[in-house]
Amino acid sequence: MALLKRIGGTPSNDTPSAGTGVAAPPTPPASSQPPRAHADVQAAAPAQPGATDVSDQRMLELSLWIVDRIQGSLGTQSDLKRTPESERMLQERFANYLRQSGVSLSEAQARRLYEMVMDELFGFGPLEPLLRDDSITEVMVNGPRLVYIEQNGKITLTPIRFANDEHVLKVIDRIIRPLGRRIDRKWPMVDARLPDGSRVNAVIPPCAIDGPSITIRKFAKKKLTVEDLIRFGSITPEMAEFLRACVVSRLNIIVSGGTGSGKTTLLNVLSNFIPEDERIVTIEDSAELKLAQEHVVRLESKPPEVDGTGRVTINDLVINSLRMRPERIVIGECRGGETMAMLQAMNTGHDGSLSTLHANTPRDAIARMETMAMMAGMDMPVHVIREQIASAVDLIVQQTRLEDGQRKVAYITEVQGMEGDVVVLQDIFMLHILGKTPEGKLITELRPTGTRPRFSSRLEAHGFKLPPHIFGAQIPGQNKRW
Ligand SMILES: Nc1ncnc2c1ncn2[C@@H]1O[C@H](COP(=O)(O)OP(=O)(O)O)[C@@H](O)[C@H]1O
Ligand SMILES: [Mg+2]
Repeated sequence: MALLKRIGGTPSNDTPSAGTGVAAPPTPPASSQPPRAHADVQAAAPAQPGATDVSDQRMLELSLWIVDRIQGSLGTQSDLKRTPESERMLQERFANYLRQSGVSLSEAQARRLYEMVMDELFGFGPLEPLLRDDSITEVMVNGPRLVYIEQNGKITLTPIRFANDEHVLKVIDRIIRPLGRRIDRKWPMVDARLPDGSRVNAVIPPCAIDGPSITIRKFAKKKLTVEDLIRFGSITPEMAEFLRACVVSRLNIIVSGGTGSGKTTLLNVLSNFIPEDERIVTIEDSAELKLAQEHVVRLESKPPEVDGTGRVTINDLVINSLRMRPERIVIGECRGGETMAMLQAMNTGHDGSLSTLHANTPRDAIARMETMAMMAGMDMPVHVIREQIASAVDLIVQQTRLEDGQRKVAYITEVQGMEGDVVVLQDIFMLHILGKTPEGKLITELRPTGTRPRFSSRLEAHGFKLPPHIFGAQIPGQNKRW
């Protein structure tokens, strides 16, 4: 319970093994009494549909009570692995403690309770069922009583509850301890990863006011392919064909979008268009990209050591990658100083680089790059920075998550150059919102704007003779396709 001690939130508890503040009632014979529902949890649990009813709450209390006892009984074996032998032993102890509790459960309830106990002992407690469900893409814990998920692009509240703040802290501790990371009152935030690659952020009090918060971006076991994106209607086959031509023809491309809009997914799809014989260096905060090519060097930034030294940033890695004879540099996301390094790489012969950044429109993406370059301490007038951007970036692909959860490419926009002080943008494809079904699903259409990009000749030089209809041109004697 090192974490709880560090945070200073350990509840008064005389049971040496109890780490969640949920112990049997203190009056003797304590261990033979069933745990009562935690008054404070009950009082605060919102009375809304789907919320935990008392019996769910009792199951949770009971599971933690048994976990405490099992952990107490394990002594030095506390880092037990899940094997058939250990499971047999735990089953026995579970049955014993369940009997001791005096609570009688149906067989199905007992089985569920056993799973809850195992999830506490070997997994991430109440989060385990959510982590196992591949259809859930994000898990958000706002303190012990509000656990939200994202599923099919929609965010919903779940009936999942933690017993109290300490219970959430215990799960955070279990996530970060194997990684040698720490979180405490002095530095109450941490980024970490689950063993399966899912990204985790945790913030605890005093910064998290309403209790410890956890955000988990689930690692998609199966990456979406270009065919998936076409099937979902995120892009059209014509857009996909165009984007493939742009990647192969070594255009510098930025995928822009909000958090969770699908930037990394699209970057992955685009990166997979890179020809097999080109040497690729990927640079990410946490390796999410999954490239099919063989000749790939994957680099990952690293947080500082406990003493604060030894941090390696994306910027450091971009600069380093230039010495690695890359033919393609793929940067997971530009958030700061690395933007300047990336623009310089793009402008100094490393054509065909790809990255993402957080912005809401292509125009906004240009503004973001400008700000990030300036924040990186570039001692240049704004219009020089703008010129760097305009000459480095060829194409911006805007990814959007619509209000109904659909993820779409909203714009494919060419960066044409500078006119005076302004970066000139030309949309090539655009998303149109046509209406809404009675169920609230948006009716949309992705259309070319009718403008052929100025860089068409570069595509042609690489053997892509894209037919005019891709760009929406009308063929004489034929109805307009769109
Ligand atoms: N076009 C799409 N259609 C449906 N789901 C998508 C699409 N693009 C991404 N996703 C899903 O959305 C989630 C967030 O995607 P991700 O690419 O990580 O977003 P970002 O990098 O913008 O934060 C993932 O679970 C991913 O599988
Ligand atoms: Mg991302």
